[in-house]
This record gives sequence, structure tokens and C-alpha cells, in this order.
Amino acid sequence: MTDVIGRRTMIGSAGTAILASALAASIAAQETPRKQKLIAVCCSLRKGKTTSAALMHCLNAAKEQDPDLDTELIELAELSIPAQVALGMPLKPGEADDFPSVAEKLLDPAVTGIVVGSPVYFGTMSALCKAFLDRCMAFRKGFALHNKIAGALAVGGSRNGGQELTVQSIHTALMGQDVIIVGTGQPSVRIGATLWNQDDSIEADEFGIGTAKDLGRRIAVVSAAMAM
Ligand SMILES: Cc1cc2nc3c(=O)[nH]c(=O)nc-3n(C[C@H](O)[C@H](O)[C@H](O)COP(=O)(O)O)c2cc1C
Repeated sequence: MTDVIGRRTMIGSAGTAILASALAASIAAQETPRKQKLIAVCCSLRKGKTTSAALMHCLNAAKEQDPDLDTELIELAELSIPAQVALGMPLKPGEADDFPSVAEKLLDPAVTGIVVGSPVYFGTMSALCKAFLDRCMAFRKGFALHNKIAGALAVGGSRNGGQELTVQSIHTALMGQDVIIVGTGQPSVRIGATLWNQDDSIEADEFGIGTAKDLGRRIAVVSAAMAM
């Protein structure tokens, strides 16, 4: 057990060092013109399912809007994002921490836009989403996500299952990062992307897919305007 704890502690220290240098580089590059990238963070516990599919609609629409934009989907489903580390508490014996590798991607100075997508669980975000957003506490040192364009997406099993509440709770957490929150823009003009999972698919939800696409386009347009 001691070996396991020792190894985890070492990995944890290496992760912290990577995070610290990525933070410093990101803060230094905040005013530098750069190639742009939009990252979607999928906070579903089920990799490749409806939240993931919804985020792909969002990313693809952003890419259509701005073909020069790079896009990437990060699936948290298979990663370990222990929330207690945000409080300075240690990993549990044998517990891994994959947050530093996610953080490194988000801190890439090329990243100008971030979409956080979550399934709706009892009217709010998944616990995995909350753990991820809590771990973003690390970015408040120097406000490394300052002025990145951010949006939220939620998928629920009911048409009115709490998607907007979920989007709003993600927005509230993101506000603590000094990002610029955007909604879907025209033509839907909603607070975020809200999708309805029917029979384990969102593909029949034309309205919801429209909001996901609008959100992607809105982030692409505002990111480009900010870079000018
Ligand atoms: C614990 C739990 C709670 C849920 N609560 C809600 C809810 O409050 N409202 C809703 O519309 N759907 C609810 N759902 C359904 C999921 O939001 C829906 O199936 C979603 O598409 C799952 O995302 P995924 O396909 O990425 O896993 C719940 C599902 C689970 C497992």
C-alpha cells in the first residue's frame, strides 16, 4: 500500500509541476495573437453517448463557421477527477488524478473557447461535471482562463428535465474563472444548448441540435472577434 501511495504522490507532484508550468505559459500568452482552438469537455459518465454526440454537433458547427478553428472533445468518462484535491486534500490510496492532463490541454494558449457539457442529473449537472469545475479552482491563480469564451450544454431524458437549470449552474461555476460566457446567439438566442435524449439518442431533437450548433457558431464568432 505504501508503494502505491508513494507512486501516486509522485504522479501527483509531477502533475502539479506540469500544471504550474502550463499555468505560467498560459498567463504569459494571454495577450498574444494565436491560432484558435475550441475544446468541449464532456462530463457524462458514459463515453460516446448523448452528451458526447451533442457536443460533437456543437464543435462541428463551430468548425463550419470558422474552418481555421481547431476543435477537440475531451471525454471525462474514463478519467479520474478527484474533487477533494481542489481543497488541498490528498488522493485516496490507489486513486489516480487525471486532472493535470486535462488542465494542460485547456491551458494551451491556442484555446480561446471552452464548452462544458453535462447530462442532467436530478435537475443539475453530473457529479463528474461538478468535480471538474471544482478542480478548475487551480486556474484562479492568475486567472489562466481569463477572457476565454465559454458556453454550456445540457442533455436530459425529458424535454423540460432541467436542462436550463443545468446550463445555469455550469455558467455560475464558470463565472468564477473570469471567462466570457455566451449563449447560443441567433437564431435560437437561448442561454445555452439544451437537448432531449429520446431512446438514448438526441438525433430526433431538431430544436436541441439547433441550440448546440448555434452555441458552437456563437463561440467561434466571438472568439474570432476577440482576437482582432
Ligand atoms: C441519476 C440520474 C438522474 C437523472 N435526472 C434527470 C433529470 O433530472 N432530468 C432529465 O431530463 N433527465 C435526467 N436523467 C436522464 C439523463 O439526463 C439522460 O439520460 C442523459 O441523456 C444522459 O446523458 P449521457 O447519454 O451522456 O449519459 C437522469 C439520469 C440519471 C442516471
